Amino acid sequence: MKIVSDPTLDQIKNAAQALKAGHLVALPTETVYGLGADANNEKAVARIYEVKGRPKDHPLIVHISSIELLDKWARDMPHFAIKLARAFWPGPMTLVLKRKDLAKDFITGGQESVAIRVPSHTLTSQLLKEFESIGGNGVAAPSANRFGKVSPTNSQAVEEEIGKFLLENDQILNGGQSQIGIESTIIDCSGDNLAVLRPGSVTIDMIENLLGMKISEHFSLNRNVKVPGSFKVHYAPKAHVVLNGVTRPGDGFIALEEIPTTIGAIRLASPKDDLEFAQVLYSALRLADSKGIKTVNVIPPKAQGLGLAINNRLLKASKGEQI
Ligand code: TXA
Ligand code: MG
Repeated sequence: MKIVSDPTLDQIKNAAQALKAGHLVALPTETVYGLGADANNEKAVARIYEVKGRPKDHPLIVHISSIELLDKWARDMPHFAIKLARAFWPGPMTLVLKRKDLAKDFITGGQESVAIRVPSHTLTSQLLKEFESIGGNGVAAPSANRFGKVSPTNSQAVEEEIGKFLLENDQILNGGQSQIGIESTIIDCSGDNLAVLRPGSVTIDMIENLLGMKISEHFSLNRNVKVPGSFKVHYAPKAHVVLNGVTRPGDGFIALEEIPTTIGAIRLASPKDDLEFAQVLYSALRLADSKGIKTVNVIPPKAQGLGLAINNRLLKASKGEQI
């Protein structure tokens, strides 16, 4: 496996060729790092599942360089989906749409819908363009963590998570720290009504303002997805995450800067606002594990705007659910 930092155009072209040849390329996005494979190559996509240790019927997001390519993958897009795409792409939003034939079962987990995103990270945007210029249609990329673990927000975290499962011709592209830090907002536009399946930094307010309508706030990634009932997953972080708990000496502590550290606790992050909270959260949880901390007490921000997405991830982390 090759790690390429701040790749030149030639190195980006080389990574595009690697994808086309069926190898895996871990790539930076503005949300979190993804583990990419040619979305039309069943064998390459199968390796994503192996490397992640992820159940096979768990669908993947297809990443494309621009809204122009949406037609290849999706059909019968409602007006509100087009409006969302025009407003928030490239950016931290994923749309679930009715699939075209190009989106095979090995991408959609057998569903009739496909998830699509146009990321804004310059490096990955270039990579997607290069990949498309040599005949690629899209890059399937889940977050580059082992199944059930915390998403990586820098290349070092990717290496720690999956480095040992990557092969000689696979690559990790280092494009710096992910600016947003939590995964994209997922909006299901495949039915008659829009539904937010996962909150993110494209907030409910932003969606409502754009579309001029109220949307209900029931987040469930499993709305249409069949998820096997009894899976043995190793939940992450290893540390036990407690929300608004009592902090004991030796515990990790994450809260907004204005909240003082309890005596004896180990401060893992002091974000000044919600933007920074999202940016540093996953690194702070990783730091807890690297320090061997058993319990992390987190004082979540207010559950509105971006704070809603942060609370959603924290709730999952505290219950040991997949992030
Ligand atoms: O920010 C992100 O979205 C990152 C970066 C790499 O783009 N990707 C990411 O992918 O978070 P992943 O696979 O870790 O999470 C995507 C979620 C999964 O839980 C999956 O079940 C859901 O999207 N999903 C994918 N296709 C879907 C579909 N057709 N219908 C409903 N949910 C879908
Ligand atoms: Mg993930």
